Amino acid sequence: MGRPAFLVLGSTGGVGRHVVAGLAAAGERVRAFTRDPGRARFGGSVEVFAGDLKDSGAVLEALQDVEAVFMATSPDALEHELTVADAVRERGIGRVVKLSSVAANPPVAGSDSYGRAHAASEEAFAKSGAELTALRPAGFATNVLQWRRSIASQGKVFQPYGDVARAIIDPADVAACAVACLTSGGHGGRSYQLTGPEALTAPELTARLGKALGRRLEFVAVEPAQAREGMTRAGMPPDLVDGLLASMAEPGPLRGGVPQPDAERLLGRPPATFETWLARHLDEFRDQTGQTA
Ligand SMILES: NC(=O)c1ccc[n+]([C@@H]2O[C@H](COP(=O)([O-])OP(=O)(O)OC[C@H]3O[C@@H](n4cnc5c(N)ncnc54)[C@H](OP(=O)(O)O)[C@@H]3O)[C@@H](O)[C@H]2O)c1
Repeated sequence: MGRPAFLVLGSTGGVGRHVVAGLAAAGERVRAFTRDPGRARFGGSVEVFAGDLKDSGAVLEALQDVEAVFMATSPDALEHELTVADAVRERGIGRVVKLSSVAANPPVAGSDSYGRAHAASEEAFAKSGAELTALRPAGFATNVLQWRRSIASQGKVFQPYGDVARAIIDPADVAACAVACLTSGGHGGRSYQLTGPEALTAPELTARLGKALGRRLEFVAVEPAQAREGMTRAGMPPDLVDGLLASMAEPGPLRGGVPQPDAERLLGRPPATFETWLARHLDEFRDQTGQTA
């Protein structure tokens, strides 16, 4: 039997795949959990575990010989997290780093089902006997990729709450913070507010995106009800949409509206700016607009 492994749940996701890469690069033994091993493209040293988080037996099996767990899953899947928390208790796992959200910062409004779900998951892990570190990031810079289609077809960005600034963060930085918490002690029982270095409104992001693409983009403010309709039409569960909108409506330091020092402390460097993130993703916007890189 080799060294105990780090189990990464949500290993193919926007954050998890960077956690897998970061742990592997640090020379750690990594087990990456996914429903679709064929789609997972990890380096040869990574053990891929095929399973579904709905299946408590698979989760228990994946937790065998595991030192620490990174917990991420889809935003509407509280039941996955409760299944994992039970299995963590049963296996006596020592350390869990959970990808949560600023929406879990108390007080969570009754209307915010999204924040309530993350808070309930944190509570379940805190009671599991493991040392829990809750990473509570602001919105991810990658959310801006959702604007690609309307930019390509109309040169426009449609968003509610355009007056609310957010210190959005590069998910690769969230992952690097997770790797730091997984591989070093002293983070048990802590929750970290992970933000980028600057709070920006959606119109400001639109202008910066336009500048980088070399074209004028128009920001169009939409009513929350209109946004709700669009998000549910796109297939998002109505309860999640209501929670996300409730969370987006709230500005302020506890909801990602003001840069916080935690990410820089964990990273040992300032978190990436929006422009740094954008430089890595600009081609994804160009592909959609028919421009060449
Ligand atoms: N987007 C934001 O602005 C933001 C901000 C703060 C916090 N968050 C939180 O971040 C989390 C999402 O993280 P992410 O963006 O890295 O994930 P993501 O890109 O949405 O990917 C979801 C991951 O969950 C896994 N998954 C989903 N259902 C599964 C199942 N039944 N069994 C096994 N695996 C399953 C998927 O794995 P496979 O498909 O490979 O099985 C995939 O790796 C959510 O909790 C969200 O609330 C997001």
